[in-house]
Amino acid sequence: MPTKKKKGGADIASFKLPELLKGFKDVLPEDELYWNMVFDTARNVSEDYSFDRIRLPMLEKAALFERTVGKGTDIVEKEMFTFVDKGNDRVTLRPEMTAQMARAYIEHGMVNMSQPVKLWDIGPMFRYDKPQAGRYRQFHQWDLEVIGSDDPVIDAQVIIMLNSFLKRLGLKVKFKMNSLGTRDIREAYVLELVAYFKQFRKHMSDTDKKRLTKNPLRLLDSKEPEMQECKAGAPQLIDFLDEKARAHFMKTLEYLDEMEINYELDPFLVRGLDYYDHTVFEIVTADDDEEKAQNAIGGGGRYDSLMPLMGAREEVKGAIGAAIGIERVIIAMKEAGIEAKKKQNPDVFFCQLGDAARRKGLHVFESFRGTGILIAEAFGKSSLKAQLEMANKKKVKIALILGQKEVLDGTIIIRDMETGSQEIVPLEKVTSFVKKALK
Ligand code: HAM
Repeated sequence: MPTKKKKGGADIASFKLPELLKGFKDVLPEDELYWNMVFDTARNVSEDYSFDRIRLPMLEKAALFERTVGKGTDIVEKEMFTFVDKGNDRVTLRPEMTAQMARAYIEHGMVNMSQPVKLWDIGPMFRYDKPQAGRYRQFHQWDLEVIGSDDPVIDAQVIIMLNSFLKRLGLKVKFKMNSLGTRDIREAYVLELVAYFKQFRKHMSDTDKKRLTKNPLRLLDSKEPEMQECKAGAPQLIDFLDEKARAHFMKTLEYLDEMEINYELDPFLVRGLDYYDHTVFEIVTADDDEEKAQNAIGGGGRYDSLMPLMGAREEVKGAIGAAIGIERVIIAMKEAGIEAKKKQNPDVFFCQLGDAARRKGLHVFESFRGTGILIAEAFGKSSLKAQLEMANKKKVKIALILGQKEVLDGTIIIRDMETGSQEIVPLEKVTSFVKKALK
């Protein structure tokens, strides 16, 4: 087949439109109401609980995540978008925000502010994950961090706050809770865990065999069918907690009981990031079956020992935070039949006839900015009938009609869409006449 040549010589037929990357998606206008609702609620809840907004960049040095999220984790091993930039720096598109928040806290000397420091941000994350329902390579998180306190009441407050956010969106959720104790406690526990799981080694998948040597705690998270029975008899971390760690966890749970938060203990919850100590949790919808429960809506926990590891001063007592997956919240809202709030309906529709009216009309339309009156238009249409039909469809109370004659007279017609009655008013006073008519 002969190829078509454009005038300039460019080859049109051989151009194939590059498709959207796997695991990435366009959020279409039809979903915008959900996105607005979730973003607005996140902002309102953050402000209600006195969190300050920080706007973090999307690109960081790769070492930041390697050091914090952990070298043996799936995120660092397989999922990071890491590349060498033009300045020869190894950089990573952020897979999460906690490491960034901790970096920003240290870099900007926030230790000198009143403690704890409460920060929030919302934006896109990147993980080269296997795409499937609710799992993308670019997704969005609302992230909250409280840095500078090890008090269990803060653990509870973060959970109460997340619960309030999800309740405001109409979702019923359950928090899965566990305590990972301290690093020393985990070291002792992991020895026992490895000894226990070694007896099942020959029944294990290759992935689980790797976990056994590299990151044994993650065996508790294994979804392989053959591991479920072995897991049931495994030693539990909760039995290894010392008095202090146990008291911290119990106190957190007491506060949650006090506030009637729906939670359950999950001794196998270990999370996929290395930096946690003490409280860890994940959020699932209240009626989730096992399969869906793998797609947590959010998760978080304490990371007291991460701060000194990153170079924070000794007086930084501890930190806790959480992140909510925005796409998963929207999926859960749709599954629960929750409708996003509709856009406010316009009260007024502006109709124009002829070029002079169109030119003048652009000014009239602008004069409504800042008046609080919502006005719609169809500058692209020229027939009055078509414009009035649109006004009818939008169920506006008033239509404004500007024709050639009105432009010459310096007037405009105000039409009551319910009764059909019309009034001619001076053009320069149109906003105050409309305000009066809408009362
Ligand atoms: P995470 O559990 O890795 O924790 O992610 C939090 C949430 O992000 C998940 O529960 C899920 O809703 C969403 N999410 C994660 N991966 C994907 C994906 N591939 N596609 C869609 N949604 C996804 C963290 O990121 C921690 N930084 C949370 C935290 C904050 N811990 C302490 N402070």
